[in-house]
Amino acid sequence: MKGIEDYTKSLTEYLDEIVVVKEPKELYNPIRYIVSLGGKRLRPILTLMSCDFFNTEYKKALPAALALELFHNFSLIHDDIMDEAPLRRGKETVHKKWDLNTGILSGDAMLILAYQLFENYEPLMFSELAKLFSKTALQVCEGQQYDVDFETRMDVSITEYLKMIEYKTAVLLGAAMQMGAIVAEASDTCKQNSYEFGKNIGIAFQLQDDYLDCFGDPENFGKQVGGDIISNKKTYLYLTALSNCNEKDKKRLVKLFSESPKDPSQKIIEVKKLYLESGAAKQSLEEIANFTKKANTIIEKLNINKSNKNLLRSFSDQLMNRKV
Ligand code: IPE
Ligand code: IPE
Ligand code: MG
Ligand code: MG
Ligand code: MG
Repeated sequence: MKGIEDYTKSLTEYLDEIVVVKEPKELYNPIRYIVSLGGKRLRPILTLMSCDFFNTEYKKALPAALALELFHNFSLIHDDIMDEAPLRRGKETVHKKWDLNTGILSGDAMLILAYQLFENYEPLMFSELAKLFSKTALQVCEGQQYDVDFETRMDVSITEYLKMIEYKTAVLLGAAMQMGAIVAEASDTCKQNSYEFGKNIGIAFQLQDDYLDCFGDPENFGKQVGGDIISNKKTYLYLTALSNCNEKDKKRLVKLFSESPKDPSQKIIEVKKLYLESGAAKQSLEEIANFTKKANTIIEKLNINKSNKNLLRSFSDQLMNRKV
């Protein structure tokens, strides 16, 4: 078994080989820019780790792992356009640094590059990976559409929110785990359970993302803190605060989320206060712990050795305590 540093190093080397700037530079420069900003590389790490834990040379999973990272980065470029986000990984977002059209087309090219990487596998494995990829990518689009729809809907339920984050974020982590299992030719049950593990840490991961969007440290979060409040995102924090609040605070919160002030600083302060005082912030952290726990019980069902099970458990526990 190798460590996370090995996975990251191999991925970066492979990425540098595949993602190069060629003509027209206006198309490839932004691609190189976004991937060079790094990020946690969570999805490829999951794929490589999953393959490794099922006792297969993890480098075999590099094309699938990079495909997922490219797809993820493509979705970030387009997500930042949709969310009107100024900052990504501590730097200007692609559509801010260049323009809207650059963000759209470079994003599209990344999606194609991602697909192309599956051509590295033999027909049967190619078909299994590509099928999972297409299904997952479409669900991510569906999740993103719900996310946008919810900005202007005032009757979103927690169940709907959980479904939305399952689609926009968690299924990709599920697919990342499953792809590792596919490359390792693990059993169908193991492939399914790998997916379920990834999906559950994915739900915890997005809950945490929403929490950090509000309560993260602007110094090292790398994204605009308060962005979800500015965009009136119906997060777990918002929905829980709404159900916990007294009538007066509830009315206030609803009103705040029907407005988009030019200077949002007061709105952010007020909403954060309501999230804290209503207990929503605390409940959010508990929910993150619940989904992580659920993921960890699934590890027991995987046909991997005990020390790998422990590593996987400590990996998901660490994810729950992340600050970026
Ligand atoms: C951000 O993903 C988008 C979400 C699904 C929450 P990450 O937090 O994995 O972003 P990077 O790749 O580490 O920058
Ligand atoms: C991102 O959700 C989900 C996808 C990119 C598909 P967010 O909009 O919360 O992600 P960040 O916070 O901008 O990274
Ligand atoms: Mg966003
Ligand atoms: Mg978004
Ligand atoms: Mg977010």
